[in-house]
Amino acid sequence: SANPLSTTPPRGPSDSETFTVHGYVRSVRKQKRIAFAVIGDGSTLQTVQAVLSPQLAEDLSTGAAVTVTGKWKPSPGGKQSHELQVEDIRVLGANDAATSPIQKKYQSAEYLRTIPHLRPRLPLNALLLRLRSLVTAQVTSYFAKNDFIQCHPPIITSSDCEGAGEVFTIEPATAEATSGPIPGLSDQPKKLPEPFFGSPKYLTVSSQLHLEALAQSVDKVWTLSPTFRAEKSDTARHLSEFYMLEAEVAFVDDLKDVMDVVENMLRSVATELQASRVGQELLEARARDQSEEGTSVSHDALAQRWQGLIDGPWPRIKYAEAIQHLKDATTQGKAQFEFSPEHEDGLQTEHERYLAEHFGKRGPIFVTDYPRQMKPFYMLPSSPSGSDTVACFDLLVPEICELVGGSMREHRHPELQQSMVDHGLRLASDSSTEASGGSMQWYLDLRRYGSVPHGGFGLGFDRLICYLSGVQNIRDVVAFPRYYKKALS
Ligand code: 4AD
Ligand code: MG
Repeated sequence: SANPLSTTPPRGPSDSETFTVHGYVRSVRKQKRIAFAVIGDGSTLQTVQAVLSPQLAEDLSTGAAVTVTGKWKPSPGGKQSHELQVEDIRVLGANDAATSPIQKKYQSAEYLRTIPHLRPRLPLNALLLRLRSLVTAQVTSYFAKNDFIQCHPPIITSSDCEGAGEVFTIEPATAEATSGPIPGLSDQPKKLPEPFFGSPKYLTVSSQLHLEALAQSVDKVWTLSPTFRAEKSDTARHLSEFYMLEAEVAFVDDLKDVMDVVENMLRSVATELQASRVGQELLEARARDQSEEGTSVSHDALAQRWQGLIDGPWPRIKYAEAIQHLKDATTQGKAQFEFSPEHEDGLQTEHERYLAEHFGKRGPIFVTDYPRQMKPFYMLPSSPSGSDTVACFDLLVPEICELVGGSMREHRHPELQQSMVDHGLRLASDSSTEASGGSMQWYLDLRRYGSVPHGGFGLGFDRLICYLSGVQNIRDVVAFPRYYKKALS
């Protein structure tokens, strides 16, 4: 029968209808003649008030998992229109409320990060899981409608795509390396006589290079894949393991076309979110207590943030203009920076934040054409005949700063080879590395066998979830966050 916690209609049972609800006791109030329990199941912020006899409520405590059956009756109390008059209740799993790490009082975001296995039981953390699922569904739908092929590039790779030296190396576990037994494993692992893959392998820092190979086979591709960076950055925006949404488009020769994909895709996500129940609940939650997962974004600011993604077009300015704008803001006394903006120093986070929050309408802004030496080897120069800047963009948004990075790719063989040399990359002169897959010869090969102009981008998916939810710390939007010195459960 209908259930008020169900996410699909018909949601509300009719008067006096009997129905069963499964969930967790959010709170329980026991009086002499009557008891009240609030039941929620995490699939919605909605709860059901269950009214029961003191005998039926005897074993109930906050946090217990229950199945409750009763009649749906108009509620005399003002808070809810109906309540469940309980006829039968079964405790599926009792909760040791006294020792439970989850308590019905204010618990800081930092504390909750120490119990990632229990944190999703909190209604707002459950809501974030649903937001992630909705956004995943919407990007999947957007790409499918626009003829992008979803691909599964490898996680184990042979190179550092970004050349930032932040890769994790992988090797089978050995007794020596793990210095003790692996949890869950009964036997000590034995040392292998030689490297497992024959040459060093790494966890991927970006699927871009593999996507380039696939785009030049089926035109437009995308993936939402785990990505790993051994960055020691102890910030609210960096994780060691995160999801990156990447797309690559063949047969384009204008960076504008790549930025259009980003803009249209994010617009479709915000439009869907605005119309969804998850969106409604996020706004509701903003209007209520905001302490649970650390956010300062108000109801109105969050609604405006989504609208800002829907409204367009977003400003697109060149890096040189951005620097000039920041310099002007400084001399006019409109802005104060710790690092003064200089062309050769790049954009600091504080500069990115200023641009997103003060240039245009406090929303997304594309900054394009960065100096060549600040960017990785694979980027195409802004002008094909050569230039000091590359055809690239960063998409900046308020608070989060960099959300997306993308570029046209160098598709010409000699120029790519030269750029690799200029960036100090080891080329495939050593045939033994080449044979074992330890070189980037395959990537150069793509330019030799039917190369086409192409471009693409990578979006920090967890940062997007922060932006859409108003949650400030990336560690709170990921169920099991991994970051420097921390990877619990
Ligand atoms: O700017 P990045 O490093 O770009 C690339 O890796 C390109 N190869 C992507 C491509 O063109 N296919 O990373 C892309 C985005 C960033 O803009 C940021 O949002 C996110 O990934 N990101 C992180 N998110 C969480 N934690 C980290 N440590 C991140 N590093 C990057
Ligand atoms: Mg970047």
